[in-house]
Amino acid sequence: PVPLVIDTDTAQDDCVALLVGLLDEEADLRAITMVAGNVGFDRQVHNAFLTLNAAGRLGEVPVHAGCRRPLMRPWVSAENVHGDGAGGLWADVSDQSAEDEHAVDALVRLAAENPGELSVASIGPLTNIASAALKDPSFAANVKALYIMGGSNNGRGNITPAAEFNFYVDPEAAKAVFAAGFATVVVPWHPLTLERVVFGPAQLARIAELDTSLARFFTRICAPTLEFDRSVGIDGTTHPDSLTTALLLHPGLVRASGRYNVDVETSGEITRGYSAMSWGVHGLEPNATVVEDVDAPAFLDHLAGLLSRPVEPR
Ligand code: BDR
Ligand code: CA
Repeated sequence: PVPLVIDTDTAQDDCVALLVGLLDEEADLRAITMVAGNVGFDRQVHNAFLTLNAAGRLGEVPVHAGCRRPLMRPWVSAENVHGDGAGGLWADVSDQSAEDEHAVDALVRLAAENPGELSVASIGPLTNIASAALKDPSFAANVKALYIMGGSNNGRGNITPAAEFNFYVDPEAAKAVFAAGFATVVVPWHPLTLERVVFGPAQLARIAELDTSLARFFTRICAPTLEFDRSVGIDGTTHPDSLTTALLLHPGLVRASGRYNVDVETSGEITRGYSAMSWGVHGLEPNATVVEDVDAPAFLDHLAGLLSRPVEPR
């Protein structure tokens, strides 16, 4: 199994990504680290425990609270898309609490304990990852692979025309991470996840028909995003975070990728958080592998397989 930390702003697809990390036999999930992003910070922590419970693994994986706001800017939420991030679900997990150790310290420690072995899936703004790289200059080298859900490959944004949410929320952190020397794989919002990995009515029905507690959890937490997506003309749910986590564990799902130089706009008036991805003709040194195509049906099969498991939540 792959030793793994998931750095997350736990709402909807982040929860599905945690399910992948918790249920996939290829994953050895060492910690969940929390960063400010989609919904209120304390709600995100609750959503992580809710998901641990849904996976039948409450108390087995530590949750570390991290940076509660971006490096240099006020927090921006995506509550208009995700609501509370869990489709109104609530569980009594009041006996659970985040670790005393800050997420940034946990990331630094876990990478240093296993140099070259730990992989990180970053599926929220990059504040914790950038902070860990600033705190420990060897962090980037100690991490085996950093999979980043963020940006667009010279394509559409989702929070502004130019920017994808995770890079928009903390562009300074994203910029710092691409300059830090990680072995980086980027899973961009557009075109990849928006054009290749939307689960439409047939895919969602297939999961609902599994009728397991995990499938019901999936359907419920995805409902607000489904409603939002339909309101903007997308007939289904997007799965950028769970795809990122699945690709980390199963690189064979990648059908095409390229080496790119990725940089992030921090000062543009209308391009804050824009990701410039140079494909090799501009004389810039590549600093990331960008995923360009995936085996979407195989990803759905894999996810459906995980959600079909019988699990006893509390
Ligand atoms: C990203 O933003 C969030 O809303 C999702 O969780 C995902 O990580 C997509 O832009
Ligand atoms: Ca996310």
